Amino acid sequence: MTAKLILGTEIREQILEEITAEVKELKEEYGKVPGLVTILVGENPASISYVTLKIQTAHRVGFKEVQDSQPVDISEADLLALIDKYNKDDSINGILVQLPIPKHINEKKVLNAIDPDKDVDGFHPVNVGRLMIGGSEVKFPPCTPAGIQEMIVRAGVETKGAEVVVVGRSNIVGKPIANMMLQKGPGANATVTIVHTGTKNMEAHCKRADILIVAAGVPGLVKPEWIKPGACVIDVGVNRVGEKISEKTGKKVAILKGDVDFDAAKEIAGSITPVPGGVGPMTITMLMKNTLKSMKFQLGIA
Ligand code: GUN
Repeated sequence: MTAKLILGTEIREQILEEITAEVKELKEEYGKVPGLVTILVGENPASISYVTLKIQTAHRVGFKEVQDSQPVDISEADLLALIDKYNKDDSINGILVQLPIPKHINEKKVLNAIDPDKDVDGFHPVNVGRLMIGGSEVKFPPCTPAGIQEMIVRAGVETKGAEVVVVGRSNIVGKPIANMMLQKGPGANATVTIVHTGTKNMEAHCKRADILIVAAGVPGLVKPEWIKPGACVIDVGVNRVGEKISEKTGKKVAILKGDVDFDAAKEIAGSITPVPGGVGPMTITMLMKNTLKSMKFQLGIA
């Protein structure tokens, strides 16, 4: 059996089209478009390329986008003052500080300074709490877990009563996706297990999974024999395992490998996400969705 591929690249296009259409309608009705500011501190090349992609995507869906680049030696106080400026700016619905930030600045202080009602990353403790409560309390689910849930739903995979096993307990993927999948409601209502480096028999847990979500950051960690035949496998791993010359651009690019042995796993799973082209494209897409949602909250229509 060869698994059905769940392609983030395709789902992204559907969602971005939906967002573009809604932005147009809201602009006609309310004379306003969602505003997103991305704050970049320093010149980390990976961060520059992420931020550029976020800005390009925001532009594509019709948002007001602001890229605010700051020098690597900006003081913590100045960065906090900048965040405060955007907190008070009514034309800005989403504020994102690209991580990592330089060591002389306290990351926790910075994330906590963002108005929770503009925290489209969903990293502020208030939004983490809202996610934990679930239901109508949730404002901004963090983007990667939101993307994973969206992929599972759009792939038509039944979640109600499903055994979901999450590999990895990070604050940005493992813990939130586990939390989201156990909530009552559509696209969730599952029985959830989290396995991690302290788990005694990871393989035995994975073998039970109807939906296996792997976010460990260890290339090839999940072996094909760990996968239940017909299971839905979501591979969140993006591991740089080498470099190659791109056929398209002639430039050096990273060779990416997931946490799952894809070639063997696709012969056992019912559906599976590839790396690259799986979960990756969903993160920025869900950032756009959260920013649109933020403006709808501001307008009192969400
Ligand atoms: N750095 C890498 N991924 C992310 C993300 O999703 N949000 C922010 N703010 N920084 C990041």
